[in-house]
Amino acid sequence: MTASATPRTPQLSQEALLIELEPVVERNLERHLSLAKEWFPHEYVPWSEGRTFDGLLGGEAWSPTDSTIPEVARTALIVNLLTEDNLPSYHRQIATLFGRDRAWGTWVDRWTAEEGRHGIVIRDYLTVTRAVDPVALERARMVHMSTGYSNSHDDEVLHSLAYVSFQELATRISHRNTGKATGDPRCEQLLARVAADENLHMVFYRNLLAAAFELAPSQAMRAVADVVADFQMPGAGIEGFARKSVAIALAGIYDLRQHRDEVLQPVLRQWDVWNVTGLDADGEAAREELAAQLDGLEQSASRFEEKRDARRSRLADRIG
Ligand SMILES: [Fe+2]
Ligand SMILES: [Fe+2]
Repeated sequence: MTASATPRTPQLSQEALLIELEPVVERNLERHLSLAKEWFPHEYVPWSEGRTFDGLLGGEAWSPTDSTIPEVARTALIVNLLTEDNLPSYHRQIATLFGRDRAWGTWVDRWTAEEGRHGIVIRDYLTVTRAVDPVALERARMVHMSTGYSNSHDDEVLHSLAYVSFQELATRISHRNTGKATGDPRCEQLLARVAADENLHMVFYRNLLAAAFELAPSQAMRAVADVVADFQMPGAGIEGFARKSVAIALAGIYDLRQHRDEVLQPVLRQWDVWNVTGLDADGEAAREELAAQLDGLEQSASRFEEKRDARRSRLADRIG
């Protein structure tokens, strides 16, 4: 070991981070409440188009021809809905980590209430418009929720804040692009509304981590680098997720390019990560890891785009 190896500034404990960030939570909670608009899931659903299903009430069984929404958009809708359905798990996670007291607790409950609308409105819409098989959907929900959600940074405040900053933006983009892919203006309108909620959530968490960069720059940088390195969508535990996410990426609803350029980069820019000062050796190392991650993602995204382009022209040739 050389004398200059790993000088680490003292680390703030998880409790100290929560206490120090509390006033920031309070300010951003107020900001959030002043910006969040009330909206009603029932207004987004064309109820008069609904028909009774088979089973108990003896209606008509679901058929894939009941809806004209393209297959890949249906896949994305199912992934997005199952992701929203897992809310109890997310709530458990942040309630355990952030606690139920004062501003943190108020935020946890308010956020949960807002997120609750997302699953409600998407499920109502899909059921009434018969866009997806309701039996398969319910079975998938049972499997997915029974598995629950966890990630590798469950018990670390800054890692969790970094993760949700990216994840809220990722779901915003995924909802918005899914809406476009449906070719159904009403579904698009609904998902744009959900996406607007996700954006406000992202800003809340992003502002908190920005404050953490002031408070403990090296710890914040370490958290961001770790989270970018092993980022997974919250729905990654859904049965068949690998196959589904490839279809979603091939359709341009959510792919590596969007992940890098529309999710990671804008948030990193807001934190001004490349110009943060006062880093210790581990903070500097984390920043280097982050830069390497982004370079790697750039290469993977380009490779994926090339393959996708080649695939598209092959398909076009076959059709032409
Ligand atoms: Fe949501
Ligand atoms: Fe959200």
